Amino acid sequence: MKILFYMPHADAAAWLHDFARALPEADLREWQPGDTAPADFAVVWRPPREMLAGRDDLRAIFNLGAGVDAILALEHEQPGTLPRNAQLIRLEDTGMGSQMAEYVTHAVLRYLRRFDEYHTLQNERCWHVLDPHPRETFTVGVLGLGVLGAQVAQTVAGFGMPVRGYSRSARQIDGIATFAGDAQFDAFLDGVKVLVNLLPHTPDTRDVLNARTFAKLARGAYLINVARGGHLVEADLLEALASGQLAAATLDVFREEPLPPDHPFWQEPRITITPHISALTLREDSVEQVARKIEALMRGDSVSGVVNLERGY
Ligand code: NAP
Ligand code: GLV
Repeated sequence: MKILFYMPHADAAAWLHDFARALPEADLREWQPGDTAPADFAVVWRPPREMLAGRDDLRAIFNLGAGVDAILALEHEQPGTLPRNAQLIRLEDTGMGSQMAEYVTHAVLRYLRRFDEYHTLQNERCWHVLDPHPRETFTVGVLGLGVLGAQVAQTVAGFGMPVRGYSRSARQIDGIATFAGDAQFDAFLDGVKVLVNLLPHTPDTRDVLNARTFAKLARGAYLINVARGGHLVEADLLEALASGQLAAATLDVFREEPLPPDHPFWQEPRITITPHISALTLREDSVEQVARKIEALMRGDSVSGVVNLERGY
């Protein structure tokens, strides 16, 4: 079978080498502009429209990440871009769950133990003991209880804080208070001290981190956004920090990436910035998962991780 590969800024030779080992019978090539030769599968991250448009020979498109918003945006901007019969399949975990759990746990514990404030005090050469945050009211709310959100919620709960989770359909997870659907959104937010966002970016979730959402949280709450920049209304975050409704935020994703040098977030000491690294795509795990799914599809079996195009995730 013929497989097209496209992943900007990646070591394409290394990926193709690993795919060749995992699928010795495959005919693999890196897509180059102008390549319209037949292919059965595409393995991509943020592909250009030209790569996918009109490729009705494709059986499946494998997205080399969990979020498929960039691919679906191509279809949204120009309907008919995505091949008619190809399934869109995203990565499921592939080592991202544990990375995300580490990142979010680190940020939650940093705020719980007030290390962010001790760092400021150190810069002022100030020896001062702050009152600890009471753990029993340091409620962590995780938006999204999918592959990544569920792991994050369970890991954080292991540190003894109350943890809530929010999803579209009802979920049950040991030790987590779960809420589902629009009707339970406000109850989920009520009194949350740390809001963690792990929702997919869809028309339903765009701008969900806004002034109304922040107002429902506990006074002096914290925000951790590790999903997509399009979830956050940036001006509302700056206002919530200025008013004291939010105490601080850790942001891994931004509306514009890389974050432009003149962006006001760089100047706000209560915002911690990382360059979209909370959960990286790991080559070995990803090649293994995609290769096994390609084999399954070749046998005529169904696979998990197929994106529902109507829902957008
Ligand atoms: P997933 O398994 O598809 O889980 C998505 C969760 O969000 C599900 O629980 C889903 O509810 C819930 N959800 C979706 N739409 C909703 C809505 N309108 N209202 C309430 N809940 C809604 O996705 P995942 O693998 O956990 O990944 C989540 C996101 O993380 C990705 O889409 C990506 O944007 C982001 N991500 C970021 C990085 C990074 O490095 N920063 C890395 C990987 C992923 P149901 O359970 O009812 O379906
Ligand atoms: C990264 O952002 C991903 O969606 O995997």
